[in-house]
Amino acid sequence: MKTPRELKVKPIKNGTVIDHISANKALKVLKILGLPSPETAVTVAMNVQSSQMGSKDIVKIEGRELASREVDEIALIAPHATINIIRDYEIIGKGKVNLLDEINNILTCSNPNCITNTDEPVNTRFSVMEKEPLILRCHYCERIMDQAEIETQFRLF
Ligand SMILES: Nc1ncnc2c1ncn2[C@@H]1O[C@H](COP(=O)(O)OP(=O)(O)OP(=O)(O)O)[C@@H](O)[C@H]1O
Ligand SMILES: [Mg+2]
Ligand SMILES: [Zn+2]
Repeated sequence: MKTPRELKVKPIKNGTVIDHISANKALKVLKILGLPSPETAVTVAMNVQSSQMGSKDIVKIEGRELASREVDEIALIAPHATINIIRDYEIIGKGKVNLLDEINNILTCSNPNCITNTDEPVNTRFSVMEKEPLILRCHYCERIMDQAEIETQFRLF
């Protein structure tokens, strides 16, 4: 049987390709980035074959070059994601997401009695205990959150 050449998703002229996203996490990655938004064209591929990862997701964002701060938030759900900046159809920059030692303000604490969940204006603050699978500890109440729980605790979700 003839094997067809791999069909690539339509190239983008300018923007960002986020590659090597953990399978099935592309929609969460978009939410972190505040996408889709009305003016931004986004292409999503989910559960595509990857030699490195088995299967992976890919997100292509037209007309937007991602800043490193946004990229680092992605590491909370897709630790192996790579960032390719595209200008005039060429990759002009490659980077990786980078998990910070402290995760501030992005997540809410899963402990309802935590001071960060009361009316006190306290920002959330978690320390990274383990990187993969991810385990965080709340600075205030010492609640431990594992990967599955972390994914439900994003402020913007
Ligand atoms: N102009 C473009 N428009 C859309 N996607 C692009 C464009 N150029 C590259 N890509 C995509 O960006 C990703 C990285 O491209 P690259 O050619 O570096 O692949 P690679 O050699 O497999 O890199 P890596 O080592 O990061 O896996 C791929 O998913 C590729 O399809
Ligand atoms: Mg590759
Ligand atoms: Zn807490």
